[in-house]
Amino acid sequence: MNFKALMLGTALFGAGFSASALAADLTVGFSQIGSESGWRAAETTVSKSEAKKHNVTLKIADAQQKQENQIKAIRSFIAQGVDAIFLAPVVATGWDAVLKEAKEAQIPVVLLDRDIDPAGKDLYLTAVTSDSVHEGAVAGQWLVKTVGTKPCNVVELQGTVGASVATNRKKGFEEGIAGHPNVKIVRSQTGDFTRAKGKEVMESFIKAEGGGKNICAVYAHNDDMMVGAIQAMKEAGLKPGTEILTVSIDAVPDIFKAMAAGEANATVELTPNMAGPALDAVIAYKTKGTVPPKWIQTESKLYTQADNPKAVYESKKDLGY
Ligand code: AHR
Repeated sequence: MNFKALMLGTALFGAGFSASALAADLTVGFSQIGSESGWRAAETTVSKSEAKKHNVTLKIADAQQKQENQIKAIRSFIAQGVDAIFLAPVVATGWDAVLKEAKEAQIPVVLLDRDIDPAGKDLYLTAVTSDSVHEGAVAGQWLVKTVGTKPCNVVELQGTVGASVATNRKKGFEEGIAGHPNVKIVRSQTGDFTRAKGKEVMESFIKAEGGGKNICAVYAHNDDMMVGAIQAMKEAGLKPGTEILTVSIDAVPDIFKAMAAGEANATVELTPNMAGPALDAVIAYKTKGTVPPKWIQTESKLYTQADNPKAVYESKKDLGY
């Protein structure tokens, strides 16, 4: 450590900051949901590379979609005395007790990509998420604009039940189509954010809706479910992207591949880089005492077939997701 750093260290140490924090040589425990989607896998990959860039040791615990595993992981991170905890909460409720334990241990918690019940707001330092109500609204508005006054029956593939993003993306889409009675959600069911379930649920929608003839559009809360739904439509002899419109969320490479093939229409981007802003916030908090805003909002951008999906696919596929 050079003299300047030593002086800064002495000053901050006197102000109650730990020596390890000074070197930004932190250990962060990340309770990740699992690997249900391409987006989720990308978030894990990007988190690892961001940790390296920030000189932070990142310990990732894969909860395999179970809240109980996330709670166990948080308790284990507390016992290990990590400097901060990142939590991607699989569902929005049931976090109070364990987050109180983290608070008592003076370990800041940062929420990544999903939110928890508003009642728990004083139990975490900040949340790095998109505006998921807005994402749904963007999808709904795109559909309204695309179909004009034509009647349009929509089937909806929802994300994981109880997840903030599933609740919000549903709410946002409903807001986006409000005031356009020609656009109606006729069926809505969870596909749990996975390709396999997206396909399975879409097969049942097709059967229930006259072999797909009564369906004008599919709205999926993520691209992976849409990729599964596209497969189901093709197997039923339908033409997704032309006969049946598609709009989903995430902007993973495979949806651009489908868009380039004319089999998907639109997606709203969710950045997989939640860890970068979260690490910046934690480092500033630990080293300078800077309290971040309660919400660090990431951008949501709409892509359609007009946005050169082939080129976007080429640029994204090299990022490894
Ligand atoms: O919380 C973000 C969502 O979780 C992504 O949109 C979805 O793909 C993932 O499973």
